[in-house]
Amino acid sequence: MSEQFRPRIHFAPQRNWINDPNGLVFDAATELYHLFFQHNPFGNVWGHMSWGHATSADLLHWTELPLAIAEDEHASIFSGSIVIDHGNTAGFGLGAWVACYTGCLRRPEGGQAQGLAWSLDRGLTWTKYAGNPVLDLGLREFRDPKVFWYEPTGRWVMAVVLPDERRVAFYGSANLRDWALLSHFGPTGCTMAIWECPDLIHFPAAGEATDRPLASPTPLGGGASPDASAGAIDRWLLKVDTFEGHPAGSGAQCWVGRFDGTRFQDETEAFWADHGSDFYAALSFAHLPAGRAPVWLAWMNQHAYAKDTPTAPWRGAMSLPRELALCKTGDRWRLQQSPVSTEVLRGSPRHLIGAGLVDKAGDVLELRWELDPGDADTSTLDVRCGPVGESTRIAIDHRRGLVWIDRSRSGLVPSAAHWEGRREQAWGGATGPLVLRVIVDRCSVEVFSGDGYVALTEVIYPGERSLDLAVLKQGRGDWRRSELTLWTLS
Ligand code: FRU
Repeated sequence: MSEQFRPRIHFAPQRNWINDPNGLVFDAATELYHLFFQHNPFGNVWGHMSWGHATSADLLHWTELPLAIAEDEHASIFSGSIVIDHGNTAGFGLGAWVACYTGCLRRPEGGQAQGLAWSLDRGLTWTKYAGNPVLDLGLREFRDPKVFWYEPTGRWVMAVVLPDERRVAFYGSANLRDWALLSHFGPTGCTMAIWECPDLIHFPAAGEATDRPLASPTPLGGGASPDASAGAIDRWLLKVDTFEGHPAGSGAQCWVGRFDGTRFQDETEAFWADHGSDFYAALSFAHLPAGRAPVWLAWMNQHAYAKDTPTAPWRGAMSLPRELALCKTGDRWRLQQSPVSTEVLRGSPRHLIGAGLVDKAGDVLELRWELDPGDADTSTLDVRCGPVGESTRIAIDHRRGLVWIDRSRSGLVPSAAHWEGRREQAWGGATGPLVLRVIVDRCSVEVFSGDGYVALTEVIYPGERSLDLAVLKQGRGDWRRSELTLWTLS
């Protein structure tokens, strides 16, 4: 914790570079969450891609373990997923953990193909399958397999991207070794740049509009309640990242639709999972207990400037894990994201009623802002404010019905590309009370609306003395009520 910017409640490696989360899996026997990740064991820039490994009991405190799957003379190890093979379909052993990853091949013509590795000790040590690659189309770009068991057809399904074609391909297999093409999805949505890191997530039942874990009586945007009849309808969320085309650069686009074991049929337009700059390559946990809502986390960064971020000897961190729900209001499906509960980390709450300043509020904070804006124009919350005019501004433009964040004056700027500018997201209603939740760590700000429809994630690199916080009202009009609750997290 003596290193400047080292996050307290987000995963970051002890040393060296990370990018995408890989192979997220919950181990029911030990009740541990396993996080694997793209890792360079030798330096803090991208390269020598291998899978690092960490575990957590609460999704907030992580223990880093030895490197799990290392690059070798055949391939470096790109992104992928893990399944637990309870039926020994692949023949590696009953209950073997099987990692399905992209090998970035070291043959003269290059290329990417899908390979397997297996573990019989709950992910600690791995053996690469001698028959790798198991799915090779002879393509230069073909990657990021997300594998899951599809019970109705009794087979494994893989979602994998053809980045240049802006397509997700679905493959099926009985044994994880032999794969047959099922269907393609795309090109559609944002096709400006390559696609990466698909995930297909099942929601057996549609969600209620909730503010878990901080029960909220007043959802942001208020008014619309979820369509109760949607409760029984199962839907899937398809997510794929694009390298460009998101308002902030790269980002995660999603569709809600149906999946029949062969084909994904979208029922929505493409939408962004997060409107901030730093939520990429999100992956959901496999093998969560039945009845648990899906949980995902993302690499909290973007390739445009990741290599210039001013941290050492580590570089890169993961977002907070988020619980997911799908909610239908009228005929519109929306994704709700609620960050994992931080209750166990909270000190005693402090309150700020109305506008004002909190001196030395801290650098690891959770904020809950309940606001009844009345006829106010704009309400702002400045965090990590410091002596030289530093601050990261979160604002609500009540007239336009927008939440935005601006880190132009937040501190160190890693590079000109994709750094400055407002990242904004519309919120449902135009009037009424609202709730914002903000989680500040030592190099990040994550903003959520109380009902989970708004998510904005940004990394920042403020000075160590930038610890103040301010609530302000701008323009004309008056609030009916503004109450900020503040917890230090440790
Ligand atoms: C996304 C990505 C993946 C690839 C990995 C390589 O950030 O480019 O498509 O598998 O990173 O590190």
